[in-house]
Amino acid sequence: MSKKLIRGGIVVTAADTYRADILIDGEKVVAIGAGALFSKETEGAEEINASGCYVFPGGIDPHTHLDMPFGGTTTADDFETGTRAAAFGGTTSIIDFCLTSKGQSIREALDTWHAKAHGKAVIDYGFHLMIAEANDAVLHQLEDVVEEGVTSLKVFMAYKNVFQADDETLFKTLIRAKELGALIQVHAENGDVIDFLIKEALENEQTDPIYHALTRPPMAEGEATGRAIALTALAGSQLYVVHVSCAEAVQRIAEAREKGLNVYGETCPQYLTLDISELARPGFEGAKYVWSPPLREAWHQEVLWSALKNGILQTIGSDQCSFNFKGQKELGRNDFTKIPNGGPLIEDRFSVVYSEGVHKGRISLNQFVDITSTKAAKLFGMFPQKGTIAVGSDADIVLFNPNVTRTISAKTHHMNVDYNPFEGKEVHGEVVSVLARGEFVIRDKKFVGTKGNGRFIKRHKFGASPTLKEEQPHVL
Ligand code: URP
Ligand code: ZN
Ligand code: ZN
Ligand code: ZN
Repeated sequence: MSKKLIRGGIVVTAADTYRADILIDGEKVVAIGAGALFSKETEGAEEINASGCYVFPGGIDPHTHLDMPFGGTTTADDFETGTRAAAFGGTTSIIDFCLTSKGQSIREALDTWHAKAHGKAVIDYGFHLMIAEANDAVLHQLEDVVEEGVTSLKVFMAYKNVFQADDETLFKTLIRAKELGALIQVHAENGDVIDFLIKEALENEQTDPIYHALTRPPMAEGEATGRAIALTALAGSQLYVVHVSCAEAVQRIAEAREKGLNVYGETCPQYLTLDISELARPGFEGAKYVWSPPLREAWHQEVLWSALKNGILQTIGSDQCSFNFKGQKELGRNDFTKIPNGGPLIEDRFSVVYSEGVHKGRISLNQFVDITSTKAAKLFGMFPQKGTIAVGSDADIVLFNPNVTRTISAKTHHMNVDYNPFEGKEVHGEVVSVLARGEFVIRDKKFVGTKGNGRFIKRHKFGASPTLKEEQPHVL
C-alpha cells in the first residue's frame, strides 16, 4: 500500500486546530508533524498539497435511509448513489437504519440490509436495527446483533400502524439494551395523538402539505421525548433522540442531562435552517419540505443551535430519505398523508452546518468537527478508529477550502433525486478532496472512488472505550 503525505493544511479535530502534515500508510494515519521532522519516514510518499485548506476528519452521518421502502415507494438513493453523494459532501461513514417488521427474523432483516450495501457503498457503513416488537425471540436474538457490531437499536414512537411501537416494546428494549451495551434511539413523536389530529384534518378536507406540519405539533414531540426519557430512567438505560426539531424536545433532553441521565440528542440541517412556511409553497412544492417531525416556526432554530453549542444536543444527522418530487412526493397531491416523508441531505449536511454554523459564528471550528463527526464516532462505538485525525486512526480525511462560496442546486448535486431543499442557497466553504481509509474517493471535486470499496463497520458496544490496536503511536 502506498504512502501519502498531506502537506501544508490546518488540521482541525474536536480538540485542536494546528498546522501539520499528515502521513498516511495504507489505510491509517501513521504520523502527524512538521514535514522536516519526519523526512525519513515520508520518503517516497505521494505529496498532497493542502495549503489554504482545513484538514478535517471525515464526516460521520449517523442517520441515513438508503434503498428504503417507505410510504408505498422506495427512496430514490440507494447505497451506491447515496454514499457517492455523501463522499462529495465530505462524509466518509454513515449509519443506516435496517428496517424490520413484526414476525420477521432479525437475521433475515440484517441480511437484507447487508445485501443492499455490500458491493455498492463507496464509503464505510454501519447499521442501526429497528425494533418492531420485543418478544422473547427478538430480545434473545439481540445478543448476536450486538456481537455483530450493530450496537444501536431504533424504536419508532410514531407512524401509527406502520412502524410505531408501544411503550412496553420501548421499555423492554431499553432494559435489554442496558444488559447488552446497546444505545436505544427513538423517533420521538406521539403517534396516537398525531393519528387523531390527522383524521380530524382529513374530515375537514384539510389535505394540503401544510397540514402535515399542523397535525404534528411541537408538544407531540416534547411529550414523546419526555416519555422516552422517563422510561430510560426507569430502565437505567441509555437513549439517543434522533432528529430533534423543537424547543419542547430540547428542554426535555436538557433536563435529563442535568440529572445525569445517559440521554443524547441529534438534530438535522433542515431544522436548523428551514421553517414551516416552506410547506405552504404554491404548486404543491410544499411536499418537498415534508419531514417528520415537521419543520417548525423559525424561532426554534436558534434554540437548536444553542443546544448544539452548549452540548445539550451532540450530533447532526442528515436523515437522508430522498424521494423524487415527480412520481414520489406527488403521490400525496390530494392527501398530505400520502406524501412520502423525508428529504435529500446526505450531500449538503456537512457544508450547510459549516456555513450556517462556523461561518456565521454560531459554533467554533472544533465544535463543527465534534458535531459532524467525533461525537457520532464516540456514541456509536467507532472512536478513535473513526471521528478524529490521530496516529492509528483510519485515514478518513476531508480537505475543505473555507475561502470559496458555492450555490447548492439539484442541477449540480450528486444525489439521485430531482430537487434539492436548499436550491439556490449560497454556502461558504467547499469540499475539495476526500480520502476514505487512505484512498481518494473525491479528488479535486471529482469522484475517483470505487463502488463496493465501503466496508461494514463492526461497532463497539455503548460505553466501551477501545484503544487503537495499531502500532504504538510514535510521537515526533
Ligand atoms: O421524514 C422523515 N424523517 N423520514 C425518514 C424516516 C424517519 O422518520 O426518520
Ligand atoms: Zn510509523
Ligand atoms: Zn424518524
Ligand atoms: Zn430517519
